[in-house]
This record gives sequence, structure tokens and C-alpha cells, in this order.
Amino acid sequence: MNWRNVAELSEDVYWVGARDWNRRLFDALIPLPKGTTYNSYLVVGEKKNALIDTVNPGFEKELEAKISQIVDPRDVDCIIMNHAEPDHAGTIPHFMHLNSKAMLVTTSRGAKMAETFHKVPEKRIRIVSDQETIELGGKTLRFIEAPMLHWPETMFTYLSQGGILFPCDFFGSHVAKALYDDEVEDLIVHARRYFGEIMMPFRNMAEKALEKIKDLEINIIAPSHGPIHRNTQRILKAYKRWARGETRQKATIIYVTMWKSTEKMIHPIAETLASEDIEIALHELTSADVGDIVEDLVESRAIVLGTPTALGGMHPVALSATQLVKALRPPTKFGAVVSSYGWGGGAVRQAKELLTSMKVEVVGAIEVKGPPSESDVEQVIELGKTLARKIKNESH
Ligand code: FEO
Repeated sequence: MNWRNVAELSEDVYWVGARDWNRRLFDALIPLPKGTTYNSYLVVGEKKNALIDTVNPGFEKELEAKISQIVDPRDVDCIIMNHAEPDHAGTIPHFMHLNSKAMLVTTSRGAKMAETFHKVPEKRIRIVSDQETIELGGKTLRFIEAPMLHWPETMFTYLSQGGILFPCDFFGSHVAKALYDDEVEDLIVHARRYFGEIMMPFRNMAEKALEKIKDLEINIIAPSHGPIHRNTQRILKAYKRWARGETRQKATIIYVTMWKSTEKMIHPIAETLASEDIEIALHELTSADVGDIVEDLVESRAIVLGTPTALGGMHPVALSATQLVKALRPPTKFGAVVSSYGWGGGAVRQAKELLTSMKVEVVGAIEVKGPPSESDVEQVIELGKTLARKIKNESH
């Protein structure tokens, strides 16, 4: 079959999802430079058929047409809702309507969300508990509760025959173009970016879920966004590292500058770190892609924040970015702040408070009036050296 249309992953297991080539923003926040996919899977049993997750509203006819190539959409008996977010569950009502006998299968929390968000009547919902199974006839689906990845109701579905895990958002990436992981050269970068955006705030729940599936025989991981993993060990190993919060000798530098004074401190600290063999990722915030920053933070041991004082505190662009960083809970251990002010400071105090509230050890903060003098730059270089030592002395 044409993989761009419908693809058979394993015997009687089909990808029937949709490619959203042109979507460029998710949650009114996350840039999607490579588009995304809404992966839906059809499992055809001897007695029953199951659809695992659906697609974003607007793609329901495409999904219906794809299912039709394999079975009559009116013969889908179970719609498995691993996750209630509308990009996977928003077209459930359409498919429930096609077959008045179809049942929605989800967790107890999912059931409440299906009623609230998708208006699925209670009598058409089958609640499954952790490790419960459904027999389709020659195909057994097992449900694994995996809450807070990244909503409270999330679960994984595991198909024993073939060892296929359907984890919905977990292990996903926003890439429209490929069916399998080995078709995207830099897939791990996209997966890391996705992990940072969606899963990083829930690293402890990610660890629990990984522990829960560690003894399963998994030959294919079929997430709800991006390519399907045939090389399962690569993504599993990466997720173990990211969930544990393992960092590298890397610093993410984010800054904004009004009259270049803050930038004149950012450049020497960046160069000092680089000369000390610390990997750096530098982002000027008015032009930066939020997803790139987040991807860098997944494995960064340190953060450097540069902001002038504006309106008595951090520049609003730096404040907004730092609040987002805080909410995403990166595993960052060390921080440094550089700042310039015109007539009254305030940015450094606020920046230190924010970083400290993230449990980041602020190893130094430099605040100068106007453009930095030569001696100010010397101090910045010393701060860079101190930060480099801290980064190198930490084991992970
Ligand atoms: Fe892809 Fe959380 O939805």
C-alpha cells in the first residue's frame, strides 16, 4: 500500500492517520516548523475492529476514507481514547455517530473528559482499568494507565501480537513527512524538542511509565505524532535519560537587549564558556523559536539569562521566557544572570528570585549601569569561568 495513504505496520494493524503539513503552531504557543501528524491506528481482529485514537477536527473525512480502504467505518466496534486532547479525540463524535454500537474505551478520568469535552454519552463509554484487556479475536489489546503524560487521563494501549505499543503523545515528535523513525535523519532532535515542550514538566510521571513498560516486549512504538519507531531502543534510551533529567556539559543562554549593553556581557560569557569546552546554545529572545530553546534545555546543565531592567524589573520578553522555562521544569542545575540598567536596577533581583524558585543555583549575577566597562567585562569573564567549573564538576 502507498505509505502516504494507509500503511500496514504489522499483520492487520494499519496506520490511518493524517498529515498536517502546514500547521505551524500548537496550543497557541509551540512552533511546528515541520508540521505534524495525527496518527490513528486501525486494528482488525477476527471478531472486532478497534480504532486507536482519531485525528484533529477537520481531518475526520480523511480518516474515514482511509478506514474505508480496509473495513467499513461503520464496522469499527471500539474507539480507544488514549488521551482526550482534541488533536486525537476531537473527531471521536464523528466516528461514534457512524456506528451507533461503537463503544469508546478509556480510563475513568478519560470517561469524564469524553463526556465534558466531546459530549460522548456515558452509556457509550467502557471504562478500562490498568492492565485490563479487550479481545478482538486473534488480537488482544491491553491498557496501561500512564497518567499525566501530559493530561490526567492518559493511558497506553499495547497490542500483544506483534508487540506494538500505542502511547499517544509519549515518544511523539512534530514531523509531518515520514512514516518511520529511520526516514528522518535528525528525528532524535525533534523527539527531544517534543519531550521538552510536552513531557518535561512531568518527568517523574514519565519515569514511572517507563518503569511500567520495561518488561514488555516492544517491537514497534506507534505514537500519535510523528514517525513510528521501529528502532525502539533508541527512543527508549533517550526517554530514560530525559526523564531522569540527565544533563550534559551544556549551557543554554537566553537574552534580550535594548541598547546592546546586555548583549555586550552575553557575548563574553558565551565565549568564555565555549573556550572552557562547554557546549553553548545561544538564543536572542525577540527572534528565537521557543521550541529550539526548550529542546536545548532538556539536556543543559546551566542557564545564562541576560536582561536589561525595563519598567523596574526584567524586560517583559525575558520575564515571559523565564516564566515559561520555569513552568517546563528543565533539569537545569546552575544559573548566571547579566543585566544592564539606565537609572535604576531591579532585573537581577527578579531574575535571581525566578531562577532560585526553579531550584537553580545562581552562581553569580552582574548588574551594570549603562554599557559594561572593561572591568565589568572582566567580571563577566570570571563569572563564565566559575560557571564552567560548576558545570564540569557536576557528574550529570
Ligand atoms: Fe497530541 Fe496532548 O495531544
